[in-house]
Amino acid sequence: MISLRFSATLPQGADCLAIPVAKDGLALVTLPGAPGLVQAAAKAARFDGAAGSVVDLHLAEAGQVFRLVLVGTGTERADDMEKAGAALSARLLTSGETAVHLDLTRLAQRPSAHQVARLAAGALLRSWRHDVYRTRLAEAKKPSLADLVVVGAPEGIEAAWAEQAAIVEGVALTRTLVAEPANILYPESFVARCQKLKDLGVEIEVLGEAEMRAAGMGALLGVAQGSIREPKLLVMRWDGTKGAVEKPVVFVGKGVTFDTGGISLKPPGGMEDMKWDMGGAGAVAGAMMALAGRKAKAHVVGICGLVENMPDGGAQRPGDVVTSMSGQTIEVINTDAEGRLVLCDAMTWVQKRFKPEIMVDLATLTGAMIISLGHEYGGLFSNNDDLAAQLTAAGKSVGDNLWRFPIGPAYDKLIDSPIADMKNVGPREGGSITAAQFLQRFVDEGVKWAHLDIAGMVWAAKPGTLWDKGATGFGVRLLDRFVADNFEG
Ligand code: BES
Ligand code: MN
Ligand code: ZN
Repeated sequence: MISLRFSATLPQGADCLAIPVAKDGLALVTLPGAPGLVQAAAKAARFDGAAGSVVDLHLAEAGQVFRLVLVGTGTERADDMEKAGAALSARLLTSGETAVHLDLTRLAQRPSAHQVARLAAGALLRSWRHDVYRTRLAEAKKPSLADLVVVGAPEGIEAAWAEQAAIVEGVALTRTLVAEPANILYPESFVARCQKLKDLGVEIEVLGEAEMRAAGMGALLGVAQGSIREPKLLVMRWDGTKGAVEKPVVFVGKGVTFDTGGISLKPPGGMEDMKWDMGGAGAVAGAMMALAGRKAKAHVVGICGLVENMPDGGAQRPGDVVTSMSGQTIEVINTDAEGRLVLCDAMTWVQKRFKPEIMVDLATLTGAMIISLGHEYGGLFSNNDDLAAQLTAAGKSVGDNLWRFPIGPAYDKLIDSPIADMKNVGPREGGSITAAQFLQRFVDEGVKWAHLDIAGMVWAAKPGTLWDKGATGFGVRLLDRFVADNFEG
């Protein structure tokens, strides 16, 4: 990922400049180069300052040749500023340039500190890559861009950037966790990578198999028993209220570090995708990092149920009945519906321990979610309209979009079992909804709960606005904004 620096004036010899241009705003910019030249180039490229559009040209002035990138900031709203920053870094990332100077001194009206910080956040997020296993990348394909230098940033930029930097770091953590393959990232190593949150003031507690057995987590442990990797329950607590707010907001993440399906084995085609079946847990960890990093004035607990779903000789069988920590029994019809078995015990544990009023879980829970919404929205299920509206609004404002689905008794009865309290799958129809109904059976009386099924959102086959193809970091900015808008007043 590129780094951000600030400079009061344009350094001597800077040979790659960028200038942000609002929609139809070229006239408000003092342009370099021969009179009319840049305007002509912009016109030839049909550049009008639309967010994320780019004109890239070379100019000569006083005997020095330099590169100029005009980047459209559209409405100059925060999302458009991010788009502009992202377009700039996407354009220059492997261009051979090592630094780009974003020159704000040429603008008749400088953007605000927050606007500049969001542009920079977009640039950093779009430049994130996971190249650790590429040892033979051709020189010309290697990222060259290392620095974004903002020249003439407005007053207050340090505070505005500190906040955005924390969020960017959180997203980067999530993306790394999601991108790592399952031979590298398993419950224990996931926990190890989150230990650095301690440096930010996050309190960390880890339960191993013995502690979970003592707590009675038969559902989670049933999933883990087919793997040689020990399951872990990772608990992260950030209290930015210094004890003033007793009950935390709770986030729960599905952390299946690899999902083979277990004995209900998945078909081989595409099974490698199941390395990112810990995307919910990844988002929770990244959100905790963002919140602590920017010292959010809120009390938040993030908990990740970490297991590997494998089919060895000790694996649970279809038809097994397990007893969850809540005491409710579950007939395991399909060992591939494992996420809900992991989440239910994590939810019970966290409610018993912290007595939250609000609990949001995130999970790559069902393939059916992708059939419903594709890769544009995550599914939202909730027992509370206000909570659903808050999450939807938070998601919309950062571009992590959510779409609400119905839940209710008619769906709930589809998971009744003839021999236990419930079964872990319903019929094929409404598969994402019956999964949510299963989870709801583990929500304590009075708790406002939402479930985000983000199966279609954590991994992208194509580059998006703020990411290259691969891990997106979906959920981190959503949770951060949800906390900022509702719990930091
Ligand atoms: N992790 C999968 C869901 C998933 C599938 C996420 C594809 C992303 C892409 C989950 O554990 C699963 O296997 N769900 C089953 C449930 C079924 C057995 C009721 C599914 O969706 O097929
Ligand atoms: Mn599964
Ligand atoms: Zn799964």
